[in-house]
This record gives sequence, C-alpha cells and structure tokens, in this order.
Amino acid sequence: MAKLWGGRFSKNTNELVDAFNASIDFDKRLYHEDIRGSIAHASMLAKCGIIPAQDGEKIVAGLKDILKDIKAGDFKFEVALEDIHMNIEARLTERIGQAGARLHTARSRNDQVALDMHMYMKREVAEIAELLIRFEEALLSVAKKHSKTLMPGYTHLQRAQPITFAHHLLAYFNMLQRDFRRLQGVWEGADMMPLGAGAIAGTTFPIDRFDVAKQLNFGKVYSNSMDAVSDRDYVIEFLSFASILMMHMSRLSEEICLWSSTEFGFIELDDAFATGSSMMPQKKNPDIAELVRGKTGRVYGHLQAMLVTAKGLPLTYNKDLQEDKEGFFDAVDTIKFALAVYRDMILTMTVNVDKMQQAVSKDFSNATDLADYLVRKGLPFRQAHEVVGKCVAYAIHNDKFLPEITLEEYKTFSDLFEEDLLQALQPENCVASRKSYGGPAFSENEKQFAAGDKVLQQQQEILQDLQQRL
Ligand code: ARG
Repeated sequence: MAKLWGGRFSKNTNELVDAFNASIDFDKRLYHEDIRGSIAHASMLAKCGIIPAQDGEKIVAGLKDILKDIKAGDFKFEVALEDIHMNIEARLTERIGQAGARLHTARSRNDQVALDMHMYMKREVAEIAELLIRFEEALLSVAKKHSKTLMPGYTHLQRAQPITFAHHLLAYFNMLQRDFRRLQGVWEGADMMPLGAGAIAGTTFPIDRFDVAKQLNFGKVYSNSMDAVSDRDYVIEFLSFASILMMHMSRLSEEICLWSSTEFGFIELDDAFATGSSMMPQKKNPDIAELVRGKTGRVYGHLQAMLVTAKGLPLTYNKDLQEDKEGFFDAVDTIKFALAVYRDMILTMTVNVDKMQQAVSKDFSNATDLADYLVRKGLPFRQAHEVVGKCVAYAIHNDKFLPEITLEEYKTFSDLFEEDLLQALQPENCVASRKSYGGPAFSENEKQFAAGDKVLQQQQEILQDLQQRL
C-alpha cells in the first residue's frame, strides 16, 4: 500500500519500521471519533469555501459508509497504513476518488489524533462517571442495611474503637465522591478542541475552528496551536484520576481479602464472585479483590510512564506521544471492569453480622469509652487514660474483658467508678454516643445516608449534562 506521505521518498519503508511505527493495532479503537471528527472537518471546509460543497458531501457520505463497514467488521486495517487516520483516509480516497484526497486540507495527523483522543476521552469519562455512580449507589445501599451492624474499627490493624459497618462503608463512599469530583476535572481537560492547529502552526486557509467545536460539542478551543498538538495533560490527568480511584479500590480489596479470611470471617463472597483452587478442594479465594489490588500497580505504571514520556519532549509533536494510547486505553478498560464487577460483588456478599458483633464484644475496643466515662465524672483525660490503661492490664492479666471486672475491683483503680460504668462499656452505647459530626453514631449515619442520596442525585444530573455534551 502506497504511503500517503510517500512523495519525497524513493524507497519503500523497511518492514520492521512499518511494524514498529504502526499504531493501528491499538488506535483502531478511535475509529468512531476519527470519522466523526473528519465529518465535522470536511463540513467546515465546505462551509468556509475551502473545498467544493459537492466534495464535502461526498466525503461525508463516504465516511459514513466506512463507519458502517467498520462496525460490521468489514474493514481491513493495514499495518502499512500506520494508524487509524491514514487507514480511513486511504480507504476513503480509494472509494470516492479525488474528493477524498481533499479531506486532509488544513489538517495534520498531529491535531487529528489530539482531536480523536479528546473526543474518545469525553465518551469514556461519561461512561466511567455512570459506573462510578452505580458503584457508589451499591456501597450506600449496603451501608444502609448495616446501619446497626457493629464491628471493631482498626488502627494499625489492631482493634481500636467500635464502629458500624455502615460507617466503614461510608468512608469509601466519601472517597469515591472525591473521585467523581476529580473525574469532572478530567472532563474539563478533555473538553478542549485542538483541530485547526495543523501540524504545529495553524493553517493558511480561512478555517473556522469554532464551527468544528460546535459541531462536535466542545466547550472550549485551544488558543495556542503549539499547545494544542503537544498537550497531553488531559491524559496525565485521567491517569492520575484512575490511579487514585484504583488506590481506593485497592484498599477496599485488601479489606475484602482480610474480612473473608477465616481469621476475620466478617463477610463471605457470593460463589459467583469467588474462585477455587485446582489443588485444595476447600478453597474459596477472593480473586477479584486481589486482581483489583494487583491491577492498581499496573495503572500506577501507566501514569508513571506517561509522566516520564512527556517530561523530556521539546515542543511540539514528537512520535513519543503515540505512546500515550496503550496505557490510557488499558487504564480505561481496567477501571471500567473493576467498577462494574465490584458493584455486583459488594451487592451479593454476605455480611456475617454476628461475627462482627462478636469481634466487638470480646475485645478492648471500648477502653476509650471507659476513659471518657471517668472524664464525665470529672477526671482529666490524661489521668483517666492512665487509670483505664491499668484496668486493661489487670483484665488481660486475669484473662477477662472490661465488662467482666467487678465494681469492687474497679474501685481499687479509681473511686469514681460506679454501677453505671457497665453501660458505658456496651458497644452499642459506645457507638451511639459518638455523635460528633462525622462520627459513627447511628443518628449521624442516618444524616449521612440522606446526604449520600442527595450527592448521588447531583452526580446523576452532572452525568446527564455530560452525556448531552458528547
Ligand atoms: N499515530 C500517531 C499518534 O498516535 C498519529 C500522529 C502522527 N503524526 C506524525 N506526524 N507522525 O501519535
């Protein structure tokens, strides 16, 4: 296949060069955007009188046919034609002749690929926003079911203070809200129209970049042609968003693995969301959680790769920038998969309420509450801490928990202890009395549920707005 840029060359490209240079194997996923962008470009060229109106029409019709063929699987992508842009353009000219050869007027692949990537990213951002909302909804709904389910909260992975499973899940819900906000920021970077920058320095033709932006529903137009073709901030922003989201999901994964172990036994994954061992018949493994945790490393790698790729590049376009795609596409696929599978995994898991309750009853996570009890009786907190520390040491020594020590024994540590201390030690009371804003109290949970419903409603409206701006 003759090269579209072959004019100044007297030899065919070496086969290895063709293979190494080509991006078609992965950038063919941009076909829809490439065609939509070319249709907008051709229409604008015709409107501005840069190409004959008839040619414009032929181009648009030809591109629509190609779109149909690609969707039907009737399009042969050629490595010798390097990338999606030249594959489509070459086929167009093959089909409609001379008119097709006018499509690339006032355009370079540098601004073309940037356009495709921006459009593609907007589409994916909208899809990811939807998946993110669905996952948040799942977390919130499970949290609502467990507003009264007590469990130990941990610091240093040591039992710390009683909380509810709802409060724990709401922490993730809050992280995901920040992810959603970051995703909105990604949209802002993607919603900039680069076409018309040409290869680097714009064009001599009287194009209308704002018309193209309007046809393609872009909110902004790059105001510097050099920035337009060399900017990859939006890819880096996406990968940053993806890395932080994966970090959150990875932390949840670690907890899912712990909670589903026999040692914790707090949850059991549905059989449809766990896997077995080829050797050990008893095994039920949390592979999905482990894979999400594992894939997080890969997504971080893509962010790192893109940062390093971009750091040494002189303006403007350099072929290094073709490396922006595979990591980005892989991150898109990974987070979409992770969000979808996690949603269903969370919704179908069994929560062993009794096991959690047991864990919070037979431990010392109520020790802070006993100290607070003494504070309420007038003792300064630092001294109360010391007294209760001694009580804990005494209990451990006598193989008991705090509620099992008698009032008489307590009195030997402080005469402020009275009959009502047992109440302060009840895990339900420990949780119920943590009413400070953002605390785990049942009453606070209810407020957070209501606030969560509102946030989801707002996110849904934002999503609809994004979908209309595609
Ligand atoms: N396949 C290329 C990429 O993804 C398209 C732009 C190529 N431009 C060029 N001047 N070689 O970056």
